[in-house]
Amino acid sequence: MIISFLNQKGGVGKTTLSINAAYALADQGHKVILADSDPQRSSMAWASVRNNANKPLSFNVIGIDSGSMRETLTRMKQQDGYDFIVIDGAPRMTDLARAAIIISDLVVMPMQASGFDLWATDELKSMIEEAKIYKPEIIHAVLLNRVVPNTNLAKDVLADMQENGWTFFDTVIGQRQNFANAATQGLTVFEVANSKSAQDEILFMIDEILKLKD
Ligand SMILES: Nc1ncnc2c1ncn2[C@@H]1O[C@H](COP(=O)(O)OP(=O)(O)O)[C@@H](O)[C@H]1O
Ligand SMILES: [Mg+2]
Repeated sequence: MIISFLNQKGGVGKTTLSINAAYALADQGHKVILADSDPQRSSMAWASVRNNANKPLSFNVIGIDSGSMRETLTRMKQQDGYDFIVIDGAPRMTDLARAAIIISDLVVMPMQASGFDLWATDELKSMIEEAKIYKPEIIHAVLLNRVVPNTNLAKDVLADMQENGWTFFDTVIGQRQNFANAATQGLTVFEVANSKSAQDEILFMIDEILKLKD
């Protein structure tokens, strides 16, 4: 299964969720690779911090660009037998997003419940619509990230998005300092203390993804 975390907006959690999702899937025994498509190479930087700290990692992180994405990742899926290829998306890179969408089985769009950027949403949606002409089976869903408990979500905006064909993960990821703290150390929330809630959220997300796979 190829899963890409995409949003044309930066800072929504693409890298954070990619890293933690890849880790959780690998931890469950799946053969996983994380493909970093962002020219800023945040996932690769994370992996190198980790490497310098001598922390082993049970999946590889590779850099990928829009030109080589399709060929490289399709081969990895078919010949190298990866169960999951996780693509960490890049902001504002239309070619990269297009290339990622067309090879994905699932496009996850992380977004914050506040500060909606509807332009980003609409642009991604129309790219997905285009891709679906060739590959109607692509699944796409919004994953709310950095949600602060007891704040009202912009319900009318969510309803608009649903009308516009977006479905939402049942999982909601909270605003939790552990996500940031872990990443800075080259770690995931599964490797830092007092992170049960963050871990559970990632595991719920993985469960939802695994259900889509069947
Ligand atoms: N659920 C969360 N709780 C707290 N901080 C988060 C959460 N998700 C992401 N962040 C922080 O927000 C910033 C942007 O996240 P990042 O994953 O780099 O976004 P993107 O890859 O979409 O640009 C980072 O500093 C990250 O640590
Ligand atoms: Mg990123």
